Amino acid sequence: MATKLDPWGAVSIDDYSKLFEEFGISSFDDILPQIDDPHPYMKRHIIFGHRDYQKVVEAMKEKSPFAVMSGFMPSGRVHLGGKMVMEEIIWHQKHGGDAFVAIADMEAHSVRGISWERCREMGIEEYILSLIALGFEPSGTIYFQSKRQAVRDLAFELASAARFSELAAIYGFSGETNVAHMVSVMIQSADILHPQLSENGGPKPVVIPVGSDQDAHIRLTRDLAGRMRKFLVEERVGHVSLRGKAAGTDLIEAAAARLKETGYRKVKRYEEHVDVFDVSDPGDAERIEEIVRGLEVEAGGYGFVPPASLYHRFMTGLTGGKMSSSRPESHIALTEDPEEAREKVMKAVTGGRQSLAEQKTLGGEPDKCTVYELLIFHLSEDDGELAEVYDECKSGARTCGTCKKEAAERIRDFLVDHQRKREIARERLSEYGL
Ligand code: TRP
Ligand code: SF4
Repeated sequence: MATKLDPWGAVSIDDYSKLFEEFGISSFDDILPQIDDPHPYMKRHIIFGHRDYQKVVEAMKEKSPFAVMSGFMPSGRVHLGGKMVMEEIIWHQKHGGDAFVAIADMEAHSVRGISWERCREMGIEEYILSLIALGFEPSGTIYFQSKRQAVRDLAFELASAARFSELAAIYGFSGETNVAHMVSVMIQSADILHPQLSENGGPKPVVIPVGSDQDAHIRLTRDLAGRMRKFLVEERVGHVSLRGKAAGTDLIEAAAARLKETGYRKVKRYEEHVDVFDVSDPGDAERIEEIVRGLEVEAGGYGFVPPASLYHRFMTGLTGGKMSSSRPESHIALTEDPEEAREKVMKAVTGGRQSLAEQKTLGGEPDKCTVYELLIFHLSEDDGELAEVYDECKSGARTCGTCKKEAAERIRDFLVDHQRKREIARERLSEYGL
């Protein structure tokens, strides 16, 4: 059966490798060695896949412009899963990315029926305060979808390139689906593409860190980005073909002229397209792409670069099974009482054996342990320490009691500290224009 990625439904993804084959997500392992100072999620294979992240890595290296963008639907309490996305955004901001965060109030309103007032309140109380407390800098942009005119305008433009039949195929929309829900899909694509509008510095690589359930959105947005282009550059055998999809003959003419000016000699112009034959270097297609992108923007086009994405694994719920915002015992919210959080961890499902004797002879199963997961996802900065816990667990030298106690105390201390920082963030909201 095909894996269904439904951003609004319950998702169970047990086998991530399916995502590589079925959806064309690339493995993150291949790109990891090129990143100088990787985030622990990268080193620990928690970020397991990507689309087109190469471009972002290059921009980071060359210190050329790039952006990071993601969004949160204000529909409940933000838990440790949300913290993961926040950390990834902040990491890219620290590495030179222009950062954008959407509070998806239009989505929450249209899909979940949440009032605008409640969206505003939850957006600030749950998401924004934590985002700032975790280190998001005021140089980035945090916005509510409904308040951002450029996003609403772009959504309308993108909607002319999207068809009902494809939204139906991707999201299961039917004749009964409310139209605002469909609009919110266009809004999300506009969230993702608007860092590339000229008012935000024009076309550039943009990375969207998300859970893999959001991949359908990414694929749709990448398609839409392409459909908004005036030019299509394709590498063929022995030449690079440049087609002017909506360019018009004047722009085709201008493209041919621009390519000649930049040193290409064998440029053959046809009515609707241009072929460039002196393209022996593998970088030529990309160079030509950049040249016509510039021309497209000068002519008032978007010149969108297809957005890149990063996908992380989901944490297991503390009670086993899926971590869910609707079941408080399965997750730890960033705003919950630190003492209660400590108790939840003490009750969490571990990879321990039935009896202490069995644990000593067989060893524990850290790969199936939610406490160990807490350590690798959130509670240990130290890879050496993790390796030690892992080995000690496997060999039976470690007992779950000690392990849980340590993790439980760390989660309590983290929350105490985080919640103190949230109160400092509250005083600083105006620095973020909120
Ligand atoms: N749909 C996302 C969610 O359900 C929220 C979201 C809105 C988003 N705009 C976005 C995610 C842009 C990534 C990029 O949580
Ligand atoms: Fe998990 Fe620690 Fe028990 Fe191993 S010893 S199963 S890591 S709680």
